[in-house]
Amino acid sequence: MDLIALFDDYESAAIAAIEQADSAAAIEEVRILYLGKKKGRLKDLQSSLSKATPEERPVVGKRFNEVKNRVSQRLDERKVQLAAPVAARGADFDVTLPGTKIEMGRPHPITQTIIEFKDLMGRFGFSVVDGPEIEDEWHNFDALNIPLEHPARDPLDNFYLAAASANSDAKGGPRLLRSQTSTVQIRTMEHTQPPVRVVSLGRVYRPDTIDKTHSCMFHQMEGLMVGESVTMAQLKTVLLMFAQAYLGDDVDIRFRPSFFPFTEPSVEVDMKWGDDWLEVGGAGMVDPNVLRAVNYDPEQVTGFAFGLGIERFCMKRHEIDDIRRFYENDIRFLSQF
Ligand code: PHE
Repeated sequence: MDLIALFDDYESAAIAAIEQADSAAAIEEVRILYLGKKKGRLKDLQSSLSKATPEERPVVGKRFNEVKNRVSQRLDERKVQLAAPVAARGADFDVTLPGTKIEMGRPHPITQTIIEFKDLMGRFGFSVVDGPEIEDEWHNFDALNIPLEHPARDPLDNFYLAAASANSDAKGGPRLLRSQTSTVQIRTMEHTQPPVRVVSLGRVYRPDTIDKTHSCMFHQMEGLMVGESVTMAQLKTVLLMFAQAYLGDDVDIRFRPSFFPFTEPSVEVDMKWGDDWLEVGGAGMVDPNVLRAVNYDPEQVTGFAFGLGIERFCMKRHEIDDIRRFYENDIRFLSQF
């Protein structure tokens, strides 16, 4: 019997099967069939070795090993090839196949609202300024005419930083997460001379009880206009025009007398909310004490200021019933914007 011919047949059949295998499962089947230890075609060949004469044996044995090594080497190579990512397989990769759709992200609804507010206020001539979220007492309270004994300064109503990190020996006193964006009024006036016409949009923090309309972190838009003979009439006009630009001409806004230490007179701004009114911000004429705190002359300039809740405007426009939806990161909610 021609053992060498048997080996040749085995080798070409095995190599062909290896090339044809196109998955990890297929290559494993080929391995079992051609190289299986218990039974399989290699095992058969091995038993036939005993039929060789003593003279044939060295040649036949050498050829057997050669074939066996070649087949297992090729099989290992193909295995690696099949395990590689498609792109690395070169010729196997069909560049003409259509791609899969990529899900595009988008800015958070609050971010979208902030962008739109900046744009609207820009058209009224207000430029955008920024301030830090970690503030000192000077900017959050003192300069805003909020005296030490005022209930708004109660540590239980604010997020004060722990003493060690509060850096309380710094110029502005103990530090806290700002409870209002009015801090940026002070920061702006401290380094700008009038006339001033700015808005500042960002996060504020209050340990409020969380419910449908309250969150311990929310966003405000602060506005400040200071110059010669700035009036309350201008304040009302700017706020009404802003609300109409964002929510439509039929928006219902009302101004209610109120009190803030840093404005005099002060108003609360309410918006019609179903059958009710919901407070959407505060406003008023900048208190002379605030102007003095930043070395402005209250005899020379007057100003108005306002602070609006950004979430509440966004909720009104999109008929969102619960402020908590903004912070839950639920993709079913976020993808609607
Ligand atoms: N800072 C006030 C608040 O957060 C709102 C406000 C801003 C009132 C500016 C008057 C002037 O409630």
